Amino acid sequence: MDSIFPVIWFEDRVRLIDQTRLPNEYTFVDVRLSSDMAEAIRTMIVRGAPAIGVAAAFGIVLGSREYTGDQGDKTAFLAHLETVAAELRQTRPTAVNLFWAIAKMLEAAKGHSGSIPKIQEDLLKTAQSIATEDVETCRAIGGHGLRVLPPTPEKLRILTHCNAGALATAGYGTALGVIRSAWGSDRLERVYADETRPRMQGAKLTTWECVQEGIPVTLIADTMAAHCMQQGLIDAVVVGADRIARNGDTANKIGTYSVALAAQAHGIPFYVAAPVSTIDFKLGSGVEIPIEERNPQEIYQVGFSRICPAGVDFYNPAFDVTPAHLITGIITEHGAFSPGELASGLGEMNLIQD
Ligand code: MRU
Repeated sequence: MDSIFPVIWFEDRVRLIDQTRLPNEYTFVDVRLSSDMAEAIRTMIVRGAPAIGVAAAFGIVLGSREYTGDQGDKTAFLAHLETVAAELRQTRPTAVNLFWAIAKMLEAAKGHSGSIPKIQEDLLKTAQSIATEDVETCRAIGGHGLRVLPPTPEKLRILTHCNAGALATAGYGTALGVIRSAWGSDRLERVYADETRPRMQGAKLTTWECVQEGIPVTLIADTMAAHCMQQGLIDAVVVGADRIARNGDTANKIGTYSVALAAQAHGIPFYVAAPVSTIDFKLGSGVEIPIEERNPQEIYQVGFSRICPAGVDFYNPAFDVTPAHLITGIITEHGAFSPGELASGLGEMNLIQD
C-alpha cells in the first residue's frame, strides 16, 4: 500500500505511526521535542533502519528549534546541534542509517552560510528530502529485486524475517519493497513471514502490511523456517539490513543468520535488500558491527506473564551478522551485487561514502 508513511512532518511536529501498538491499534504519536524523538526511537515506536534515520533527521530539525541562545552566534548554535545529535546517536547502535542521517543533517547545518533562522528552515527541507529520497530508493530496490528473483515458471513463495517494509522505511520498504514489486508484477504467490521473536515484528508488522495490500501471507514461528524450506514451500528469502560491512557481511534482525544457514542447506537463494546508506564502508567485515543488546524482559516476558523461573540468566542480542558467503545478492537502489562485487561495483559508480 502506498499510504503507509511511518514518519512524516506535520505542521510543526513529527507524526509517527506507533508501531508498538500495531496490528491491534493504528494510532499516531506526535513528537515535538528532540529528546522525545530519541525516546521514540529507543522504545521502538519508530523502528527499522531507514525509518530510524529519517526520524533522527527530523529529531535534528526539532532540536534546531530548541536553541534559545544568541541568534547571531552560529558557533553556539552548532554546538547545541551537536548535543542534540549526541542524544539521538545514543538510541540504537546497530542501524547505521541513524548515524548517516545525523551526519547529513549536521553537514547541511555546518556548510550553511545563512542566518540561524534560515538554517532552521533549510534543515527541515533536508530532512524532508531524506524522507522523500528514501521512498524513491525503496521503489528502485523493488525494481532491481524483481530482476534478480529466480526465474521460476510458477509464482514465487518468498520468506522474509522481521519487518523491512513501509513501516521500517519512509515508505514502500526494502525487502517488502521487492515483495511488493513481485506482487505488482504478478510474480508472487505468497509471503511466508517469520514471527521474529522476541519483538514479533514479522507477526505484528509484516503480516499487517501484507493484509493492507491483499498480499497472501502465511505466518510461521521462527522455528518453522527450515522445515518449510525442507518441505519445498520457499523459493527465495529476502530480508532487510541494519548495517552491511564492506565485504558484504550483513547485520539484520536476530534470527536472520539461522534463516540464511537453512537457505544455504536447501539451495534456496538468500537476498539482502537495502539502500546504499545502510552500507558502512568504514567496516571491513561484520565482526566490527556493534550489536545492540536490549532489555531481557523482551525474552522472559510474554504479554504480562513471565515464562521462566527466577534464577535464569538472559542474553538478548537484537541483531546477528549473516556472513557474506551465505548471501546470494545484495539488492540496492543502484542494482544488485554479489557480496564480493559490492564494494567494487559501487566504487565504479562513485557511490562509496566514507
Ligand atoms: O529492531 P528493529 O525492528 O528496528 O529491526 C529491524 C530490522 O532488523 C530490519 O530488517 C532492518 O532494519 C531493515 S528495515 C528496512
